This record gives sequence, structure tokens and C-alpha cells, in this order.
Amino acid sequence: MRRLYPVPSALPAPSAGASPAAPGSQPPQDPQDSLTGLDSLDGLADAYAYPDRAAGPWLRANMVASLDGAAWHDGKSQGLSSAADLRIFGTLRALADVVVVGAGTVRQEGYRPAKAREAFAARRAAAGQSPAPVIAVLSASLDLDFSLPLFTAPLVPTIVLTGATAPPERVAAATKAGAHVVTAGEGAGADPVRAVRELADLGLTRMLHEGGPRLLAQFTAAGVVDELCLTIAPLLTAGDAPRIMNGPGITVPERFSPALILEEDGFLFTRYTRG
Ligand SMILES: NC(=O)c1ccc[n+]([C@@H]2O[C@H](COP(=O)([O-])OP(=O)(O)OC[C@H]3O[C@@H](n4cnc5c(N)ncnc54)[C@H](OP(=O)(O)O)[C@@H]3O)[C@@H](O)[C@H]2O)c1
Repeated sequence: MRRLYPVPSALPAPSAGASPAAPGSQPPQDPQDSLTGLDSLDGLADAYAYPDRAAGPWLRANMVASLDGAAWHDGKSQGLSSAADLRIFGTLRALADVVVVGAGTVRQEGYRPAKAREAFAARRAAAGQSPAPVIAVLSASLDLDFSLPLFTAPLVPTIVLTGATAPPERVAAATKAGAHVVTAGEGAGADPVRAVRELADLGLTRMLHEGGPRLLAQFTAAGVVDELCLTIAPLLTAGDAPRIMNGPGITVPERFSPALILEEDGFLFTRYTRG
């Protein structure tokens, strides 16, 4: 894993008389550089640490796109991913209190409960987190298969965020399966601002939004996305798959700034924060 931004701080050039560096070799890295060890899960977890909790809820979105902007290939994001993308995907999950996801993605990708991973167990315990993040599914229809392990066998009960007019028999089915149904809107669906507030009220302030594009567009339009981790896959797909946000627009585009850009195997792993 190679860091492209912030540009790694190099040690000063060797003094005269020292043996010259081999052509094409990287300059030695500054040991004081705080972003090191990116090939280890610990190093990645440090690089993607959430801001201080005292600052309030923080919603990070993690998405992958092809070079030509497609959010999926053949109906799934898997075809755009790579080994390093999966490492970062897993690390971001391991840092989160809650994974927010749309029902479309849950149905299409067959979401399962998040796993407790040994590599992150001590870090999560020290941060006062459950062994695995909660999955929070947004659905208006609640047309979900509540017999799946996502609802019946998670380590921590799955949350279903919906609106006040959700079908009562589906709410009952979700609750019976063990899900925690939270009303976060007055109509059929959840209001993104209220969804964030409801999760924060449950103590789930380190939020990770995993899409899909229809849901993420609503969260962005509502102004609650603080950070976007976008993987750019070196793949052209053509076709008519949407961008990573597919929904309402914003009157004035919102400015985000790069915080981190990594590269492995031609894939770029970008992290942008608001402002
Ligand atoms: N490129 C990536 O990184 C990435 C990430 C995730 C997913 N994907 C891909 O994206 C596709 C699915 O994305 P999508 O955009 O079609 O669907 P989606 O955003 O995952 O889910 C849409 C569904 O979410 C529910 N929903 C949306 N807004 C809601 C609201 N305000 N309140 C409550 N529920 C709400 C509705 O569910 P109900 O119909 O149940 O009411 C809606 O049908 C899949 O092919 C997946 O592979 C790509």
C-alpha cells in the first residue's frame, strides 16, 4: 500500500560522501511520520480513525466506483473491488459503531451480520464498542426477509430505520425476528437527519454508510455526510450503472478536501472530509 497524499515526509538527502541511493529507489521515510505501517490492519485503522467522539456524530460513507463512475458491475459492487479495497472495507467496519445501509443493497448483496474480528478486538474494547458494529437497514416497505441471519443471529441486534407509516405487520415481523425497529420519519421512509440523530441517541456516533447510491444521495442532499471514502477502481465498465449517488441533488455543491490518498495495484483509496 503506497501513500500518495499527504505526501510522505522524506528524511533529508544523505550528506556528501554517503553512498548514493539506487536509481528509482524511494527516499527514506521520516520515522516521526504519523501515517506509517499502512500494510498492517493496525496502521490502516490508525489512518482511518474517527475524530474525537466529543465532537458529536460523524458519518463516513465508503463506496467504490469504476474509472468511468459506475457504482456497480453486473448488479454488484464486488466486481469493482480488490484485495486492498476489502482490507479497507473491513477496517472501516471495524472502526464503526454502526453500519448504515439501504434495503436495496441488503437484498442485492445478501447482507449478513457483521463479524467480530480478533485483529480489532482490543481496539474495539478500548473504544467501548461492541465486538462488531450494529447493522442499521433503512427500509420504507420493510420488504425484507426477516428469517435471514442478519435479523435472527447478529452479535448485536440489527436496527431497522423506517417511517411512521411503515406497514404494521412488517414492523411486527421485524421485531419478532429480533430487530430493533426505529421510527425516523413522519412518512413512509426515514428522514436522514432524524436517522442520524436516532442512531446518535442510541450511542452509535461513529457511523459508516455503505450505500447504496439511492440512499447515499438522500443523506448527502440532507447535509449529514461528513466524510467520503471513495475507492476508484482502474476499470472501465461503460453501461448504465448509476454513480455512487443517485437521487436528489444539492443546489450549491458542497466542498470536501482530501485527507488521505492511498494506492495499491492501480486502485486509488481516497478519503475526503467536509470543508
Ligand atoms: N459502489 C458501491 O460502493 C456500492 C455500495 C452499496 C451498494 N452498491 C450497489 O448498489 C445497488 C443497490 O443500490 P440502490 O441505490 O439500488 O439501493 P439502496 O440505496 O441500497 O436501497 C434503496 C432502498 O433503501 C430504502 N430506502 C431508501 N431511502 C429510504 C429512506 N429515506 N427511508 C427508508 N428507507 C429508504 C428503500 O427500501 P424499501 O424498498 O425496502 O422501502 C429503497 O428501495 C446494488 O447493486 C449494490 O451492489 C454499490
